[in-house]
Amino acid sequence: MGYMMSDHIQTGLPAEYMNLKENEWYGRILQAKKQLGQDLLIVGHHYQRDDVIQFADFTGDSFKLARLAEKAEQAKFIVFCGVHFMAETADILTSSAQKVILPDLNAGCSMADMADMEQVEDCWTEVTDLFGGTTIPITYVNSAANLKAFCGANGGAVCTSSNAKKMLTWAFEQGERILFFPDEFLGRNTATALEIPDQQMVVYNQASQTFEWLPGQKPEDVKVILWKGFCSVHQRFHMSHVDSLRKQYPTIKVLVHPECSHEVVNAADLSGSTEFIISQVEAAPPDTIWAIGTEINLVSRLAKAHPEQRILSLNPIVCPCSTMYRISPQHLLWVLETILKGEVVNQITVSEKIAHHARIALNRMLQIA
Ligand code: 13P
Ligand code: SF4
Repeated sequence: MGYMMSDHIQTGLPAEYMNLKENEWYGRILQAKKQLGQDLLIVGHHYQRDDVIQFADFTGDSFKLARLAEKAEQAKFIVFCGVHFMAETADILTSSAQKVILPDLNAGCSMADMADMEQVEDCWTEVTDLFGGTTIPITYVNSAANLKAFCGANGGAVCTSSNAKKMLTWAFEQGERILFFPDEFLGRNTATALEIPDQQMVVYNQASQTFEWLPGQKPEDVKVILWKGFCSVHQRFHMSHVDSLRKQYPTIKVLVHPECSHEVVNAADLSGSTEFIISQVEAAPPDTIWAIGTEINLVSRLAKAHPEQRILSLNPIVCPCSTMYRISPQHLLWVLETILKGEVVNQITVSEKIAHHARIALNRMLQIA
């Protein structure tokens, strides 16, 4: 068996797969799935496009998919239709005999790329110098494996958008202060839900390596240090969208992902992970009108599945997650047919040195959440 090294460089889809049409890839994917049987598990994140997610054995938010990976002992090959950090997490939580495959290695996450080890170590030094007592590092799961390992090695943990509140509560039981990265907004929105006032949060700007102090704010006030990172998809939902839809539809329910800005989350009726968003729509009575602030593939799928409700995107201009979108049915077919040939391409492997501490951080979350 020949394996490619796991990095973000995509060598490119072989020419024979590039221009395959639906009537060719559809049947071949089903055939490959059938031949691989129990050895294969295809999982898909809710933001994955319809033409790919239709082949997933399981779908979920990042927490559900991490749990699933942890329990998927029978699968020799886990094909992860999602983004790089999700596949890394699956590799950390599965045995060394199981192979996790990302159909396009360029399916990264622009938010995860906003924090690297050197920056986090610089920040940690500044935090240690400036603040007394204990700071607990919490990384959003949207981060590289070595940053999860940093948290594991420094008494911290991982969180996802579905358990951030529980994990921040846990962290405050371990120390006086939290360093939260890389998403400022999930951190801020969760801390606000825990009734932490703005005056007790400070933004750390990783580009200038400075703290963005509020007027009159002092280090001893600070309970949460927020990395200045964001999601390029969720930053495109604004108050103007909320205001104009509320004006047009007075009974509309605004339902957003907590990666949206603080004012949008404050103005929404509800906020939560992709799984939470789905559960709210599924439980709603007919004729409910929704403005949903999250990735468009999920919003469109919900609109199709619930014609009895009126489901709109909070931003009428389509916002796909461009990296997630990279995974096409042609990529899926390619990785499946290479497995059938006895090869593995696009395997994601996290070295045991990193995985050891990253697993500690992930297990803290899996035990609590
Ligand atoms: P979920 O945890 O809700 O799946 O969100 C993951 C993500 O990347 C959202 O942008
Ligand atoms: Fe990353 Fe945003 Fe895409 Fe989620 S939607 S994977 S946070 S870029």
